[in-house]
Amino acid sequence: MSLDALFQPLTIGSLAVPNRIVMAPLTRARADANNIPTPMQGEYYAQRADAGLIISEATAVDPLGMGWYRAPGIWSNDMVTAWRGVTDRVHAANGRIYCQLWHMGRLVLPDYLDGDLPIGPSPIAGEGETMAPPTGTYDGGFLPMKPYVVPREMTQADIDQLIAAYGKAAANAIAAGFDGTEIHGANGYIIDQFLQSKTNQRQDRYGGSIENRTRLLGEIIEAVIAHVASGRVGLRISPTSERKGMGDANPAALTEAIGALAQRHGLAYIHLIEPIASGFMEKPDYPVMDHLRAVFTGTIIQNGSFDAQTAADYIDAGRAEAISFGRPYIANPDLVSRFRDGRELAQPNFDYAYVGDERGYTDYPVATGG
Ligand SMILES: Cc1cc2nc3c(=O)[nH]c(=O)nc-3n(C[C@H](O)[C@H](O)[C@H](O)COP(=O)(O)O)c2cc1C
Repeated sequence: MSLDALFQPLTIGSLAVPNRIVMAPLTRARADANNIPTPMQGEYYAQRADAGLIISEATAVDPLGMGWYRAPGIWSNDMVTAWRGVTDRVHAANGRIYCQLWHMGRLVLPDYLDGDLPIGPSPIAGEGETMAPPTGTYDGGFLPMKPYVVPREMTQADIDQLIAAYGKAAANAIAAGFDGTEIHGANGYIIDQFLQSKTNQRQDRYGGSIENRTRLLGEIIEAVIAHVASGRVGLRISPTSERKGMGDANPAALTEAIGALAQRHGLAYIHLIEPIASGFMEKPDYPVMDHLRAVFTGTIIQNGSFDAQTAADYIDAGRAEAISFGRPYIANPDLVSRFRDGRELAQPNFDYAYVGDERGYTDYPVATGG
């Protein structure tokens, strides 16, 4: 079957892209210890600039939402300046890059917050453990793992501050030269924590009904589109993922409500994580894509365990307009031309996925020869 669909241009909201291959957001932890992006990141993204669209790694909107050692933030002027260096590199290589706006909510360890508790919709801990920051001198190796803690239930003032932080971060992203922003509503982070019924047990206007659980998302969308044209704003969701203790009583209905909200605000795209095979995430028993299609007329980018052929087939079948690739982008900076030329893909070394320097980051070669 033909792969032609992958190489057709597309307009996502108000952004024209030359192909349907999107680089999925990938946390790689190459910022500095103060969460300021480094020139290494500019090199890495520029190497991948022939993607139709690059979605940056998750980028924290506020120190309270930052619980990943050496992940980047975008709350300070220094961060804006450093990100400008990254976006300039991508644009010089003729690429397009959106900033993924992120807040980890209950998944931040107190180790990142001077011992304070993280915030979340309800006092329910995430399931599992995550990397704590290094103590003392750090040799660059694996970080100690610690279990998630029970967060502090957010007050209205916390919610107001969170929404304001998203607005500020969106303005900062534009100041930093990003072409747009993606609101991270997936993978068990704070927006997802409000959306899903298992993690949101609030009794106020932000909990209970689906209308209430999607309220925070709606208010964050409003804060973001006050600074970024809605045609340059996307939303990432994973309503069927149960990782880190997530779960929803009715993912299909929740997805329809999210899609309707995005539609009402004229968002450019929804980036749905709905894997077609289990791997990094589980393939859902009850996919929600059709529910999204029924209410959202913007671009749908689908993600999860695709290869070139399955991606082209999905686009041909009208199931999505574009497909994003995560793990394949780690070791294949030239993924677009590898797909076009039918070349083998290189395999990533996951030892360097989340820690390290240039090694396992910017040193994957482009393919040469036949
Ligand atoms: C190393 C790594 C880092 C990731 N970081 C992020 C992230 O920052 N934001 C996000 O939304 N998803 C993140 N993901 C999930 C990917 O975007 C993607 O959903 C996942 O890899 C499945 O797509 P794939 O099968 O094409 O790899 C990450 C995945 C990996 C492997």
